[in-house]
Amino acid sequence: MRSVLASVAALALSSSVLAFPTSSPLLKREHESGGNDTAEYGDGPIVDFQSLPAELPPLRYEYNALEPHISEAIMRFHHDFHHSSFVNNTNALTTNMTRAIEEGDLAQVVRLTNPIQLNVAGHINHAMFWHTLSPNPANHSGGYGGVYDESSTLGQQITENFGSIERLKGIMEAMGAAVPGSGWVWLIWDRQNQALDVITTANQLNPAATEVPIIGIDVWEHAYYLDYYNRRPAYLRAIWNVINWNEANKRFTAEASGNSWW
Ligand SMILES: *[C@@H]1O[C@H](CO)[C@@H](O)[C@H](O)[C@H]1NC(C)=O
Ligand SMILES: *[C@@H]1O[C@H](CO)[C@@H](O)[C@H](O)[C@H]1NC(C)=O
Ligand SMILES: *[C@@H]1O[C@H](CO)[C@@H](O)[C@H](O)[C@H]1NC(C)=O
Ligand SMILES: *[C@@H]1O[C@H](CO)[C@@H](O)[C@H](O)[C@H]1NC(C)=O
Repeated sequence: MRSVLASVAALALSSSVLAFPTSSPLLKREHESGGNDTAEYGDGPIVDFQSLPAELPPLRYEYNALEPHISEAIMRFHHDFHHSSFVNNTNALTTNMTRAIEEGDLAQVVRLTNPIQLNVAGHINHAMFWHTLSPNPANHSGGYGGVYDESSTLGQQITENFGSIERLKGIMEAMGAAVPGSGWVWLIWDRQNQALDVITTANQLNPAATEVPIIGIDVWEHAYYLDYYNRRPAYLRAIWNVINWNEANKRFTAEASGNSWW
């Protein structure tokens, strides 16, 4: 089934759009909601989207674990409704795409392409997003990942490419705030230039093949409107309190050591 999803994703590639990982040593791990990825999952990054039919991965922390920065209400809505819709649509659309390809129905293939791009990437982006976040140890016993470490592999690269973490945050906040409509702001590893960079994508597009996502922040209104109304910059400032720097470092370290997770 992987190869079908990969070819479907390839069809959905218009220019620099959907990067669907096909060759990485990806790890799919079973887990329980409320678990602890730092302790349980060792050194590799967490990947929750490498199979069809797609499944809604449960959060590894409680719905309220990101409070006061992201509320339980928005986490329930974002995960249980929005992400769930992307998962269900991924399954319906890829099933239909498979049939359209088998039947040689090219008009149908074209019709399905944009919805597939939106929903498959929507599923992947959100599956990553839940692990880009984690409870902050400052406010949650057992919280993990929320502390930036300048001496980590990622931390050293951030200093090299941006000068400081504060400068990187400022760039991501400004670029994220400026995304017109809905989209994402990303810290990516640019394989060609061998440097970290910040990019934005519209809707549910995700970083293309040469760009490895390290931190993706959802700036759709559905990610913040219950908590911050129209104040996207306030959301972007607050989210640094719950960024899972351990997971970000694992993603970058895997890439840097030649075992890309992407
Ligand atoms: C997705 O499908 C599952 C299984 O049928 C269902 O329980 C869930 O409510 C659906 N999600 C949405 C958002 O409709
Ligand atoms: C998939 O195909 C079925 C049968 O033609 C159709 O009823 C359904 O709406 C399609 N779903 C999507 C998401 O395209
Ligand atoms: C800890 O909780 C307090 C009170 O809810 C909040 O103001 C503060 O921003 C939180 N600190 C962190 C690092 O999450
Ligand atoms: C998560 O793992 C860390 C490190 O082993 C541990 O200190 C912490 O208590 C665990 N948290 C939970 C919620 O189990």
